[in-house]
Amino acid sequence: MHKLTAHDAETQSLDLVADNIAKLTALFPEILTEGADGGKRVDFEALRELLGTAVEDKEERYNFTWHGKAQARRLAQTPSTGTLRPCPAESKHWDSTQNLFIEGDNLEVLKLLQKSYHQRVKMIYIDPPYNTGKDFIYPDNYRDNIANYLELTGQTGEDGRKLAANPETSGRYHTHWLNMMYPRLKLARNLLRDDGVIFISIDDTEVANLRKLCDEIFGEENFIASIIWQKRTSPDMRTTFSEGHEYIVMFSKKQEATLSFNKLPITDEQRARYKNPDNDPRGVWVSSDFTAQGYRPNQMYKIVTPGGATYDPPDGKCWKNIEAVFLQQVQDGRFWFGSDGNGVPRRKNYLNETDGRIPWTWWTNQEVGHSQEAKQEVNQIFDQAEVFSTPKPVRLIERMLQITTFEDSVILDFFSGSAATAHAVMALNAEDGGNRKFIMVQLPEPTDKPDYPTIADIGKERIRRAGEKILTDKGGIINLDVGFKVFKLDSTNIKPWDVGFDDLETSLPLFADSLKDDRSNDDVLYEILLKYGLDLSLPITTHTLAGKTVYSIGMGALVVCLDKAITLDTVEGIAKLKDELQPEDSLMRVVFRDSGFADDVVKVNAVQILKQAGIEDVRSV
Ligand SMILES: C[S@@+](CC[C@H](N)C(=O)[O-])C[C@H]1O[C@@H](n2cnc3c(N)ncnc32)[C@H](O)[C@@H]1O
Repeated sequence: MHKLTAHDAETQSLDLVADNIAKLTALFPEILTEGADGGKRVDFEALRELLGTAVEDKEERYNFTWHGKAQARRLAQTPSTGTLRPCPAESKHWDSTQNLFIEGDNLEVLKLLQKSYHQRVKMIYIDPPYNTGKDFIYPDNYRDNIANYLELTGQTGEDGRKLAANPETSGRYHTHWLNMMYPRLKLARNLLRDDGVIFISIDDTEVANLRKLCDEIFGEENFIASIIWQKRTSPDMRTTFSEGHEYIVMFSKKQEATLSFNKLPITDEQRARYKNPDNDPRGVWVSSDFTAQGYRPNQMYKIVTPGGATYDPPDGKCWKNIEAVFLQQVQDGRFWFGSDGNGVPRRKNYLNETDGRIPWTWWTNQEVGHSQEAKQEVNQIFDQAEVFSTPKPVRLIERMLQITTFEDSVILDFFSGSAATAHAVMALNAEDGGNRKFIMVQLPEPTDKPDYPTIADIGKERIRRAGEKILTDKGGIINLDVGFKVFKLDSTNIKPWDVGFDDLETSLPLFADSLKDDRSNDDVLYEILLKYGLDLSLPITTHTLAGKTVYSIGMGALVVCLDKAITLDTVEGIAKLKDELQPEDSLMRVVFRDSGFADDVVKVNAVQILKQAGIEDVRSV
């Protein structure tokens, strides 16, 4: 039986280096070689030869770099030694919801989600610190980032270290920000589906660096847009040149034919512009210009209007279509020549035939809200002022969702703040009957509010309140998921396998059970889910077999028993469960607690019994 340990690659998050080697060798099998330890290695010289003159090794080359970039890249590839502990008490509708709220440093959380949410996310929105000099930039620790996190957030030691701002006077002002963003974006990209998209809010402090960073991580060819969001309604009189906008930088995972964007619904104001002065049976319409830039010989004909006036294309322009198409459309009544029949030809666009507006990069506060509106939204929900100082308007995020998501898409925001993204997901689902699911990630950053000691507390409470408000406003929508499962980042549940040879005798008894004493079965269960790459919102059913608790996840895809002193009766019960549940492809994986067997004989027999039932994948923690 294979035993899972804390330092076993299998028990950590996805081994990204191994994944990269697998991808490369799938393309170029000849570069795979063996290391002295028998492990897989890449023959770099062989790869270099395959790439010929395309390898750039000159010192002076086109590149974007900063101090610590190589280390930041390594940081993204180091597996996490943490886990996500379930917290039903702070959750809402734990048993039925498919939404997640994860409290923790997003770097570690993104690592932990790598297997379970690989290529699952349709849209990511993040609103990271802008590096204005006043906000803190999370200080990652390359040696032990989980201990670092627990200490920083005051979960170990005294009150924790204060998260200090990254001032402009710091010699590493941009460097700190880039080092923080690089590994997070790299890991986030893995979670996107091939038709997935990321939106990143930013202002002028780092927009240039962010664009370069994204060019590198997502590929320049995957740049979609740099949206201008008009965040203010009037200039700030305290400044000499007031900033009225921010950017939302948008990249796709892959620039593929399958990538398309949803059109936006027509607004009431636009709808009001449609009229029907000629009683056209197709209904109301607006007219549009029939000229196009440039000279195309077969689009240069003379047009004679019904009233007898003649028109040639204006200088430097041609008509939009060739004459045959134009004449056909005139015959169909699709052209308008003014009320007297002598006006410039204009094409009629019918309300009935439009499927909406093409999104563009100009987002006014009238259409998507402004910063003040966002603050008011939070104040209203909490019925008090100044609960959270930098929220985004719900309408702004709803716009991003409308353009890029489908009705069952998974949406991720790993700088969640007050959880405006979760609010927007629920609001849009309520509007269009969708079933989008959200994953929020937020650091438990301390606040000075006794009611909500951390920003994560603000986020959770906002989702609770916003969900209820939406339900009330909509007057009884039954199918809206306003729940969320809370998980908290912590060190692994498995004791580290670091017994020194010198103190083997004294330390061994301690390790008789490899699971930490202060962790519950539920904690361990979810760690196993993450390691097997299963969705954290999968329903878990509990069975009692020969007096022991056995969990079945995903209709028997994974079966876990963490009780102690188990007998072969329980094992036989699990074998029977396979027949009952009929897991997909008849594959069932079973995990026991290593110290759960009365003795080694029971353990060996258990493996045999399960093998006979066709269950080969049996492990212990
Ligand atoms: C500008 S706010 C996001 C506001 C959010 N869009 C809203 O509308 O409420 C950025 C958030 O990222 C959080 N944050 C910063 N570093 C983080 C990290 N390493 N992991 C998780 N959250 C982090 C901060 O605590 C802050 O609440």
